[in-house]
Amino acid sequence: MIDLVLRNATIVTPTGLVNGDLGILGGKIYKIGKVTEKFAREKDCSGLFILPGAIDMHVHFRDPGFPAKEDFGTGSAAAAFGGVTTVFDMPNTNPPTLTIKALEEKRKIAAAKSHVNFGLYMGLAQDNLEEINLAHGIAGVKAFMGSTTGNLLVCDLNVYEKLFELGKFVIVHAEDEHVIKENTKKYAGTENTSVHSLIRSPKAAYQAVKTILHLAKKYNARVHVTHLSTELEVEELRKFKSEKVTADCTTHHLYLTQAAYAERGNFVKVNPPLRTNDDRQALWKGLKEGLLQAVTTDHAPHTKAEKEQPYSLAPSGVPGVETLLPLLLESVNHGELTLRDVAQFTSTNPAALLRIKGKGKIEAGYDADLAIVDMSKEMTVGQNGYKTKCGWSPYSGWRLKGWPVVTVIEGNIVCENGELNAKFRGREVTYES
Ligand code: DOR
Ligand code: ZN
Repeated sequence: MIDLVLRNATIVTPTGLVNGDLGILGGKIYKIGKVTEKFAREKDCSGLFILPGAIDMHVHFRDPGFPAKEDFGTGSAAAAFGGVTTVFDMPNTNPPTLTIKALEEKRKIAAAKSHVNFGLYMGLAQDNLEEINLAHGIAGVKAFMGSTTGNLLVCDLNVYEKLFELGKFVIVHAEDEHVIKENTKKYAGTENTSVHSLIRSPKAAYQAVKTILHLAKKYNARVHVTHLSTELEVEELRKFKSEKVTADCTTHHLYLTQAAYAERGNFVKVNPPLRTNDDRQALWKGLKEGLLQAVTTDHAPHTKAEKEQPYSLAPSGVPGVETLLPLLLESVNHGELTLRDVAQFTSTNPAALLRIKGKGKIEAGYDADLAIVDMSKEMTVGQNGYKTKCGWSPYSGWRLKGWPVVTVIEGNIVCENGELNAKFRGREVTYES
């Protein structure tokens, strides 16, 4: 493994900012502060900040199955450019990751193509608990309580009870299918995308969160509610606060509201949908209070042609893995977050929730997975195109200040100055038991 020292940086460590050098030996962080030894490779990082590489707990890289939208190569290249050094891929591919056979197939694809480290979830189906129980090395199980892209809906609570008995990490898409169905009938025929937030109402999200948290409590299960979008859910989460119950929200729910439909239509159609500004503020508050621990992207690319169809035909989902850090760094530049908050929400906490070995912190002995960022670099989203194959962003045209400029994985420089080291491949992460 290449040894490397990054000199004269400001390093974001768990105990605070350190000005100095970061030495990497054998792919791991060796020393922080003053590195007197000469290393095989040296890099001057004057004026730059070093964060632990972001860990995105929620992406859809569409591989195998939907190569027009994305594949593991393009999705992971987008991640690398965005300072995301590890991704966790969702099971709604084709075939869906419901069996050990499908899991092994995806493992091979990711190992062959991924530019960043990765972990894989299996999906919950009505009848695959045995496969889940026998699977090795998975991040956890993704359960869809509401229908969305793919066909992985499970409404039967008996299945969830049996799942919780297995003791796996369960990450839940919580939207109540009955509420969604009723509303779909009520608003049938409306082709304005803004109806999406009425169909998939706050009540649909709240109801599902309430149901799953009650069940989680009964089984003392490790349940993580992903993409919280409403104030109602945050308040429900507060009632169940425990180490076992955790949650994240996405960048699109932190930075966009339903006002965006007017300009962007189906290009901001997403499940759960965009909400009001009050909901958005409640998510920020929930993060600051520690009720929500992580920020994810739910990177869910679809082609422009798919999104240009009428509302009822356009699939839900927005890409996001390239803009996770730029959006949060812009907030740091506005004084709304600190760099330590960013490290917590995008790296330290996801690593702890998923019990990933050796990642999530800039500390001696940890893997040298790093996002080197230039806090004074200003760019417009999309000005140099996109790495995601779908080729668009819900933030196109936004001027942001604070961008990742170099990405390091286990001591290897994976991208620098807009160039990808195309030969480098990431590895599947391992977990503490
Ligand atoms: O908007 C969404 N898109 N929400 C999901 O839950 C799935 C995702 C996708 O895979 O397209
Ligand atoms: Zn998702």
